[in-house]
Amino acid sequence: MSLILFLFAFFFGSIPWGYIIGKLKGIDLRHVGSGNIGTTNVLRAIGKKEALITLLLDISKGAIPVLVVKIIPSYGDNLFLIGLVGIFSILGHCYTPFLKFKGGKGVATSIGVLLAYMPLAGLITILIWIITFKISKISSLSALISFALLPMNVFLLDYPEEIKFFAFLFTTVIYLRHIQNIKRLLKGTELKIGDKK
Ligand code: G3P
Repeated sequence: MSLILFLFAFFFGSIPWGYIIGKLKGIDLRHVGSGNIGTTNVLRAIGKKEALITLLLDISKGAIPVLVVKIIPSYGDNLFLIGLVGIFSILGHCYTPFLKFKGGKGVATSIGVLLAYMPLAGLITILIWIITFKISKISSLSALISFALLPMNVFLLDYPEEIKFFAFLFTTVIYLRHIQNIKRLLKGTELKIGDKK
């Protein structure tokens, strides 16, 4: 049963909504802007409405598998299993088999997982993202700062040990997926919203 849940989470997370929305508009996001298939690049390459749809769909990819496992009677209180389901949906997004395992950076899908798995920490992460973005206008920096603070937030909120562990893991995945962004940030060449490459 757990294996079915992991496979469901991975393949649900694998649906490359940004890429699909781009293709419907005749644009291959992998060749525009940052080349990423996430909300930020949809906004850069297409527009606000499409970016919002991508954001909501990518958030749902993280939230729905976690909510599904939470309502299964024998699994719903197993915080470690729920965290594993969350990480599988995030990995599905980041390494989607539908795009030769080159997927997105996992921010929106992780936010969906957080909202379903550790709601208050999820809301705080969104708030920090918004504040950082208002100041910097840089999506990647906002993700890096808000997720850097996630392990500290779950510690301060005194979440159970399993949640602390997965918060650290989600942050690690986000950092690994933003290595190119970090290099650009250090060089001062990272794209701001409104910039096109
Ligand atoms: O959600 C991804 C974001 O953090 C960075 O996107 O397109 O600027 O690499 P992008």
